[in-house]
Amino acid sequence: MSKALIVYGSTTGNTESVSDDIARILEGKGYAVEVRNAADVHVEGMAEGIDAVFLGCSTWGDEDVELQDDFIPVLDELDKAGLGGKNVAVFGCGDSSYEHFCGAVDVIEQKVEELGAVLLGDSLKIDGDPDTGEITTWTDAVTTRI
Ligand SMILES: Cc1cc2nc3c(=O)[nH]c(=O)nc-3n(C[C@H](O)[C@H](O)[C@H](O)COP(=O)(O)O)c2cc1C
Repeated sequence: MSKALIVYGSTTGNTESVSDDIARILEGKGYAVEVRNAADVHVEGMAEGIDAVFLGCSTWGDEDVELQDDFIPVLDELDKAGLGGKNVAVFGCGDSSYEHFCGAVDVIEQKVEELGAVLLGDSLKIDGDPDTGEITTWTDAVTTRI
C-alpha cells in the first residue's frame, strides 16, 4: 500500500479542512494516509518510507509574505526531512485580495525544489472558502503523477 503524509499549518481551520479532504480522497484511492499538524510534526526524517508528501500552509502578513505560524519552524527544518527525490505536492489557502495571493505556497514550492524533490504538478492555491470539487480535481491530477 502506498503511503502519503500530509503536513499542514492552519490558523482558522481552512487549510486543515483541505488536508482532511485530501486525506479522504487519497484513502479512497487506497493510500495509507497520515495527517500531521505542523505544530506537532517531527520534521527530521519525516519523509522516510513515504511515497508522497503533501505540504499545506496558509499565507499571512500584508506587504511581506508570512507563512502560517506553525509552519515556519517546519520550513526552517525542511532540509532534514529527507525530501530529496521524493514526490511532493504543495497546497494552501489564501485570499486573492492580498498582494501576495497564497505566497506561502510559492515559498514552500521553491524550497522543496531546492531540496531536490519531485513536484507533482502545479500547486493548489485556494481563494477563500475551500471547495471540495476543486480539491478533488487537484488531488486526482496529483495522484496520476505518483
Ligand atoms: C491579517 C491577515 C493577513 C493575510 N494575508 C494574506 C496574504 O498575504 N495572502 C493571502 O493569499 N491570504 C492572506 N490572508 C488570508 C488567509 O490566508 C486566509 O484567510 C486563509 O483561508 C487562512 O487559512 P487557515 O485557516 O488555514 O489559516 C490573510 C488573512 C489575514 C486575516
